[in-house]
Amino acid sequence: MHWSAAAVAAALVAPGAQAILRFSCSSLVIDRLDPLVNPAQLPSPHLHQVVGGNAFNVTMDQGRDLSQEATCTTCTFAEDFSNYWTAVLFFRARNGTFHRVNLLPNVGFEQANGGMTIYYSAQSRGTTTAFKPGFRMLVGDAANRDPVKAQQYRQLTYTCLQNAMTRSGETKNFPTKPCPAGIMANVRFPTCWDGKNLDSPDHMSHVAYPSSGTFESGGPCPATHPVGIPQLFYEVVWDTRPFNDKSLWPEDGSQPFVWSQGDATGYGTHGDYMFGWKGDSLQKAMDANCNVACPQLKSQSIAEDNKCTVTPRVKEDTTGWLKELPGGGEMANM
Ligand SMILES: *[C@@H]1O[C@H](CO)[C@@H](O)[C@H](O)[C@H]1NC(C)=O
Ligand SMILES: *[C@@H]1O[C@H](CO)[C@@H](O)[C@H](O)[C@H]1NC(C)=O
Repeated sequence: MHWSAAAVAAALVAPGAQAILRFSCSSLVIDRLDPLVNPAQLPSPHLHQVVGGNAFNVTMDQGRDLSQEATCTTCTFAEDFSNYWTAVLFFRARNGTFHRVNLLPNVGFEQANGGMTIYYSAQSRGTTTAFKPGFRMLVGDAANRDPVKAQQYRQLTYTCLQNAMTRSGETKNFPTKPCPAGIMANVRFPTCWDGKNLDSPDHMSHVAYPSSGTFESGGPCPATHPVGIPQLFYEVVWDTRPFNDKSLWPEDGSQPFVWSQGDATGYGTHGDYMFGWKGDSLQKAMDANCNVACPQLKSQSIAEDNKCTVTPRVKEDTTGWLKELPGGGEMANM
């Protein structure tokens, strides 16, 4: 099924007075690196899938301007050299071996080579302050397996896709039944900033959720984090369709998918971000109230996005049936 970009925007993006960017970023690399949480570690503990500019590397010092160092990007807004990454989904067979799940291009972006869909939504209350060079953040906890703890990350969820357009029924745990069109992981970051720190030791405490209500309901930012930033949101569609035959699923009735860090609950979902837009291009897009289309920004085709790649630094096989997850996984609660 093919949808025009305009039809998709009309169906998936609520019309409003605030700016919203929705765009495709193809896969840059799948590699066992994490320059935010585990800088200089080659390899890092678990596998990630990464999109954005090709300055992505083992170590990425905060003083660097990614838009100056990258020479290409996998994102359709060509001035966006940021990096965005998440864990990688695996299927665990009855015999205990693992198979990596492929990324599926999102609706409207069918030509993309894997990757994910990125949204930046402006605040509905007052002004939106775009991220600054050197800004980075993490949301979620890869080690978490606890549903109560998962509540602190208010908007990390899964959608069991009945078809490519399904956008309801989000859960905090992995879907418990086969999903006919794949599993979408939804990663929404906090929307309030302390206005001072571009990063923090846990990569999270410089940002916060609204003090009441939600970003969507226009909830105010807390006094400690008074600056409204765009809501950064990743939609990551995993092509679980080849594994939907219930005879392949565990005999105890549990679901068979597991994140690359060894999480079979889904509560360990997490996303990482390193800002890398050129100059003030993101602020301009927010101020111009861009709504999906944004003539103020330079664009490139999805074919161009697909051409930008980085060679994996860690030489290990991540395809086929694997005896263990790359790096071993933590395997807690499995
Ligand atoms: C990554 O960093 C290494 C070591 O600093 C450097 O040699 C290499 O060119 C960098 N790669 C990219 C893609 O920037
Ligand atoms: C393990 O199970 C998968 C899925 O059923 C199968 O394709 C694979 O060949 C099996 N591997 C071994 C070593 O039995």
